[in-house]
Amino acid sequence: MKKIVLCAILTATIFAAPIDDFLKKLKIEAKKENPNFKGFSAKRGEKIFTSYHIGKKGKKVACISCHTKNLKSYGENIFTGKEITPLSPKANPKRLQDIKKVKKWLRRNFKDVYKREGTAQEKGDVLVYILNN
Ligand code: HEC
Repeated sequence: MKKIVLCAILTATIFAAPIDDFLKKLKIEAKKENPNFKGFSAKRGEKIFTSYHIGKKGKKVACISCHTKNLKSYGENIFTGKEITPLSPKANPKRLQDIKKVKKWLRRNFKDVYKREGTAQEKGDVLVYILNN
């Protein structure tokens, strides 16, 4: 019985919100990038998510072009027409669980919109914004 309880505790610890762990790592990176870094900001994240830039294929694109302004609603990939399930973990519990997937899509999606990868601070800001919405 003791073993089972211990196992459960260990499992809970190991699998405690991987996104929190990822944010901690981003924080360390962000401090290296910018010594004045004071923490992530959902407000800056909102700007990153909602502002338009000349992105992929010379098109004016924002994160909201595909994910929409309402993170709890379905979106659509403007390049392929494919449906995208809601980005908010509050509406879609599968979101921000698999850090490999999060990293891969942040890399791709920043390139789609900003034509470069996001900095650690930008990635943290936008993730905090998504988590709050
Ligand atoms: C051209 C359309 C498009 C744009 C623009 C776009 N995304 Fe995405 N995004 C996708 C698609 C497609 C996926 C992967 C399919 C899925 O998970 O539903 C995805 C997945 C993600 C994920 C993974 C979430 C998870 O855990 O499953 C995050 C985070 C994300 N996008 C953030 C952003 C941010 C931030 C921006 C702006 C810099 C952005 N996206 C712009 C289409 C887009």
